[in-house]
Formats: sequence, C-alpha cells, structure tokens
Amino acid sequence: VSELTITSSAGRYDVEIAEGGFAALVAELPEDTFIVADDFFRDRIEGRVVWISAEERLKTVSEGERLLGELREAGARRSSHLVAVGGGIVQDLATFAAQQFMRGIRWTYVPTTLLGMADSCIGGKSSLNVGRFKNLAGSYFPPERVLVDPEFIATLPAEDVAGGLAEAAKITFCRGPEAFAQHRRDYDGFPDSAAVLLHHTLAAKQWFIEIDEFDRAERRLLNFGHTFGHALEAGTTFAVSHGAGVALGVRCAIALTRERGEADEHADELDAHCVRLLDRVPDLAQRLGTLDRAVFERAFKGDKKHTQDEFHVILPAPGGGAREVALPATDDTMLAVHRAVSATVGDA
Ligand SMILES: NC(=O)c1ccc[n+]([C@@H]2O[C@H](COP(=O)([O-])OP(=O)(O)OC[C@H]3O[C@@H](n4cnc5c(N)ncnc54)[C@H](O)[C@@H]3O)[C@@H](O)[C@H]2O)c1
Repeated sequence: VSELTITSSAGRYDVEIAEGGFAALVAELPEDTFIVADDFFRDRIEGRVVWISAEERLKTVSEGERLLGELREAGARRSSHLVAVGGGIVQDLATFAAQQFMRGIRWTYVPTTLLGMADSCIGGKSSLNVGRFKNLAGSYFPPERVLVDPEFIATLPAEDVAGGLAEAAKITFCRGPEAFAQHRRDYDGFPDSAAVLLHHTLAAKQWFIEIDEFDRAERRLLNFGHTFGHALEAGTTFAVSHGAGVALGVRCAIALTRERGEADEHADELDAHCVRLLDRVPDLAQRLGTLDRAVFERAFKGDKKHTQDEFHVILPAPGGGAREVALPATDDTMLAVHRAVSATVGDA
C-alpha cells in the first residue's frame, strides 16, 4: 500500500494504491453510500449500484441528468457518499453527478483502466461531450479519496494497457530525466511492478497539477503528444485509439524536433520506448492505412492551444523534459508537420 496526498483548491485528497483494495473497500462501505459503476462489472459488484454503459456517445449532460435522478430515486441525500468505479467515462460522469447532486456530495473514485489509474484519477478535471463537440462542457471537482487497485489491470485489453503506459511514459518524461529513467526501470518489471509504476507516475503528475491546477503553464506540458495524437485519431475516424494516438503523437513531436535539429539522446530514448509500446497494439499499420491527411490537418489546426497566428506544440526539451513551442501558423510549418507524420507512420 502506498499513499499520496494531493493539494487542490477544493481541499486535500488522498490517493491510495493497494492491490486488492477495492474488495476491502466494498466490504466496509458505510450505510449511506451509493455506487456508480461501469456495467462491465455487473457480475462483480452488488448492492446499491447505478450502472453506466462506458460509451463515448453517452458521455453527455443528459446521461448525467439520468444519474442524478437515479441517485435520488435510490434514496441518496446531501450527506450521502458516492463511489465511482470505472474508467475515464465513468469518472467524467460521476464528477458531474457528485458536483451537481444537491450542490455537491462527497465522492471516492476507483479507476479501473490503466489510463484512469496512471493519469486521469488525479487532477479533478471532468468533461462531457455536447453534440459533436468532445469534452466541451467541463469542470473541476476532485474526489475526496482515490483508491487505485492494480488488480483491475488483469482484464484490460492489450491496447488499453499500451495506452495507459503511453500516458505514464509521457508524464514521467515531462517531469524530467530522473523520473523517466525510473519509469523505464518500473516498465521492465510490469505488470508485477504495476503498483510501484503507478506510484511514481502519479507522484510525477502531482507536481504538475499542484503547481498549475488550472492549466495555465506547466500543466499544459502534459499535453505532449496530444496535438498530433488527437489529429491522428480523427484522421483515421478513431481506428487509432487515444492511447495509441498519444504514443504516435509523441513520436511525431520527436520527429519534428529532429527535423529542427533539436532532438537529443533523451528524445531518442523516449522514441524507442514508444516503439516498444506500439508493438503491443494489434493491427496498427492497417489502421494507420486509413489516415486521411485532410482530416488530420483540420484536426491539427483545431487544437485548443493554438492562437490566431501560431501553432502551439509541446516538444521534447534539450536535456530532457518538455517545453511549449510556438510555430508560425503557415503552410511551411504544416508541411513540416506532415513530414513528421510521414517519418513516423510512413506515407499513409
Ligand atoms: N477526466 C479526466 O481527467 C480525463 C482524462 C483523460 C481522459 N478522459 C476521458 O476518459 C475517457 C476514456 O477513458 P478510459 O480510456 O479510461 O476508458 P473508458 O471509460 O472509455 O472505458 C473503455 C472500455 O474499457 C472497459 N473497461 C473499464 N475497466 C475495465 C477493466 N478493468 N477490464 C476490462 N474492461 C474495462 C469499459 O467498459 C469500456 O468498454 C474519454 O472519454 C476521455 O475523454 C478524462
């Protein structure tokens, strides 16, 4: 069992990493507790549960409204405690429900995907989709407690494991060369070393979210790989998953840095690590074969970080870590971006 305490504007909250911790939590739930869970766990969780189907199309305000109504029907009150069990979709919906229910109730989050365990479980962010706009409506409402139980990793598909590991690699790389060297040692022992790897990853992320809770400076660096990654997801009509997109996006950012003559051995090590992670993703070449460059370009240009005249990308910094770089929003820059994609995925 290991613990971290996160300081946020909404107060401090504890993160506990404990193998088998979920079974222990369920065994001693207080009377006034309501569970909101991914319906993947229907056979494993009993009691007062509101089930959520973890589908992106249901990550909406109306699904949040359903949760609020069902919690009330089930007898939840202002003093009740919510326990959310699932990946990022459940987290996003549960954050909304906990924040809105009678102006806010206490809640605990139990992440069940590696992305949730290594990354999204701390930081307090939540977003819901509105029509075709992903993550348009959002807020901050951190849980009172996070319980990370690595036993949930056992049933995850290989691709989701690779995706979670890609986020973990990105976070530790951004934190600096020591954190990333530790991460590679932890990775060599994975999955046996999952609890240790998760502890080190969350401790690295903790630094970013405490120094810049609201994404104004340092925390933006955690977007490393995402400008390219999101565009690759969109350009393949989501045949490339988010996790694979992040690993590929990091590789594209490194390729662009290389072209600028600024890539050093730290960037090379991260690149080689991402290649190993991508080997875990089935049929990747086939899926990349569907890449539509026009759709990719539109998505790349639509990134929230950009300004009117500049593309803002996160690139590996000389000496390790990452930095935000503003590139002129010109056709020449866009050609360099396309060349970085070709260097990474071929001429798809
Ligand atoms: N709030 C945040 O800070 C934050 C951060 C990153 C991503 N997100 C959001 O999270 C979502 C993606 O979340 P995700 O990748 O964690 O997963 P998810 O919630 O989308 O779930 C993916 C699939 O895995 C299944 N699943 C969950 N746990 C499992 C387990 N232990 N074994 C087997 N299958 C399991 C689910 O039923 C679902 O089919 C996106 O909507 C994204 O926008 C939120």
